[in-house]
Amino acid sequence: MTEAIHAEGLSKTYNGKVKAVENVAFTVNAGEAYGFLGPNGAGKTTTVAMLTAGLAPTAGSAVVDGIDVFANPNEIKRRIGIVFQESTADSDLTGRENLELAAALFSVPRKEVRGRIDSLLERMQIGEAADRLAKTYSGGMRRRLELAVGIIHAPRVLFLDEPTLGLDPQGRAGFWRYVEELRKEHGMTVFLTTHYLEEADGLCDRIAIIDHGHIVATGTPSELKDRLGGDVVTIKPTRTEPTLAALLQTIPGVTAVTLQDGAYRVKGTNGEQLVPALVETCTRANVGLASVSLKRPSLDEVFLEFTGREFREDDSVSATDRAVRIGQVQQAFGRARR
Ligand SMILES: Nc1ncnc2c1ncn2[C@@H]1O[C@H](COP(=O)(O)OP(=O)(O)OP(=O)(O)O)[C@@H](O)[C@H]1O
Ligand SMILES: [Mg+2]
Repeated sequence: MTEAIHAEGLSKTYNGKVKAVENVAFTVNAGEAYGFLGPNGAGKTTTVAMLTAGLAPTAGSAVVDGIDVFANPNEIKRRIGIVFQESTADSDLTGRENLELAAALFSVPRKEVRGRIDSLLERMQIGEAADRLAKTYSGGMRRRLELAVGIIHAPRVLFLDEPTLGLDPQGRAGFWRYVEELRKEHGMTVFLTTHYLEEADGLCDRIAIIDHGHIVATGTPSELKDRLGGDVVTIKPTRTEPTLAALLQTIPGVTAVTLQDGAYRVKGTNGEQLVPALVETCTRANVGLASVSLKRPSLDEVFLEFTGREFREDDSVSATDRAVRIGQVQQAFGRARR
């Protein structure tokens, strides 16, 4: 199988002290959808910036579409597509003009430009608004325009850095539908970052969970869930009882018990059947229950399992994060603007 992305020992330390990405290594096969999943500040944008030749690494190497990223940054920029977390469409140009600019920038053959733009506008359902300034677009329309801009040159590898941030669920679903169609039609490789667990779950062939600049787990969504060893029943007692974990552990079907933030996470193959026995054990131990909940393995659980923390759904964007992206955008588009 051909490798579309290969990173080795990739590291980035900002200002000699902020270790944003540390010794990250992974391979994405051609045609795969690969997800980088992690909370704010995990190092996702930094990784994308390095893989797309927008940011020099402190250490490590990366090969994208057979090209050494750091030796051939301009070639990389020509070959890949990028859709950033933040809006990069030029508000003072129309949708069509944004696409024309991108087509020129990426040297799309002249005779193909018109046809490609028309078909993308239609595909992304922005045809009717094509000749309106982008600043009059809704958030969802802008994202679709930006996706169109990102793929106008039919890139073999598309990088998406939290592209659906701020979109409503319908907008997100629509966006991913287009990406899926493009993958099917062109066998495009997609590298995406997200902190929406359900997005990564539904879309990615494989996922890397990144936390504090490290990959803490990789696998297909189902492999990652399987590693959890089944369902998780969370029991929140009204008081702590030192012997409770050991008692719960003896119940047939229970594979593991951990205490986290005052709640017991009990793993087992069939959570529903475990609940009565768990409740009974607590009652016998004279421990009242504040709550009992059952969860089938989800990526939320995977995240908790591998990082020991709840996954935060925080949409805030750090100023430094913004600076990197704006720098990248300027680098990519700067020369074309007058
Ligand atoms: N230009 C910069 N200078 C200094 N520190 C930076 C810079 N860019 C990012 N960082 C820091 O590096 C770490 C990783 O940031 P990064 O933007 O890669 O995270 P992220 O996973 O993309 O987060 P988010 O989900 O918020 O977009 C953070 O601690 C961030 O503050
Ligand atoms: Mg980011």
